[in-house]
Amino acid sequence: MKQNSIVEKILELKKQKDVLILGHYYQVPEIQDISDFVGDSLNLSQKVTNTNNKIILFCGVHFMGETAKILNPSKKVIIPDLNAGCSLADSCEYEAFKKFKEQYPNHIVISYINCSAKIKTLSDIICTSGNAMQIVNSLPKDQKIIFAPDKNLGGYINRVTGRNMVLYNGSCEVHELLNAEHTLKIKKENPDAFLIAHPECNDSVLKLADYIGSTQGMIKYVKESENKKFLVATESGILHKLKTDNPEKEFIIVTNNASCACNDCRHMKLNTLEKVLYSLENETYEINLDEETIVKARKPIDNMLEISKKLGIIK
Ligand code: 13P
Ligand code: SF4
Repeated sequence: MKQNSIVEKILELKKQKDVLILGHYYQVPEIQDISDFVGDSLNLSQKVTNTNNKIILFCGVHFMGETAKILNPSKKVIIPDLNAGCSLADSCEYEAFKKFKEQYPNHIVISYINCSAKIKTLSDIICTSGNAMQIVNSLPKDQKIIFAPDKNLGGYINRVTGRNMVLYNGSCEVHELLNAEHTLKIKKENPDAFLIAHPECNDSVLKLADYIGSTQGMIKYVKESENKKFLVATESGILHKLKTDNPEKEFIIVTNNASCACNDCRHMKLNTLEKVLYSLENETYEINLDEETIVKARKPIDNMLEISKKLGIIK
């Protein structure tokens, strides 16, 4: 089927079945373009709490579908490909994390939203890259904290805030691969460019950055910046929005070596327009979670949304 006909069919079915299509910025441009709402993890988790649609089709990865289900237990939540996982979420397995947590009594657990529903049940507050710093700062200075699963985001917060949070040893394979050596080379080749980086990048790359922020943070920063050229250290999907918003600006994606063409998340990029259509036609693949998991995992997500509202990060 031609792309135009697929898009037409998707739009028709979406209306007919009353489906809200959500897309993360890391989705391929064609999926972002047919989504009702495109956002980063924080925007999407907020959007998902305010929907009247019968079905939610989440174009992202598995833990995002789970989060949508936790926040909307009575709704049907579907994702285009059940194999779209996340290396960061997978790096934190339930039994291992439970044991890890037991080593640190009297610690509050702040977990990055990129974790499974089961890990959320062991957490006190969820955060995203868009609110992690403020959430940590909202706690008393002497509060003992476990930060999981992203050691890079946690390490970055420790450095900026002077805290000493206990970090779980997880990371995102896409951001972790970027290195200082090649980043520095691209910087030297483009002395007029600003380096923007996602806090999931490792410390050596973050140290070189002119701006560090979440996907939405980087989008806002570039839009408001007078600068015309940017080196972008994150997943390549962000380029679609950056280029659409700023046609006059130039973007160079920071890769991990000269021959690597892009930083595609292999999980995010499993989703295609064809799979979106199949999902709508068959109402698959449904996310199902048991009641106990939903109740326990919801608490830390609600805590995140409540704190974020209180701090004015979201409305
Ligand atoms: P944000 O959407 O919070 O920027 O996180 C990026 C990411 O890796 C999502 O999987
Ligand atoms: Fe997970 Fe990294 Fe892919 Fe985001 S980019 S879904 S953190 S593997």
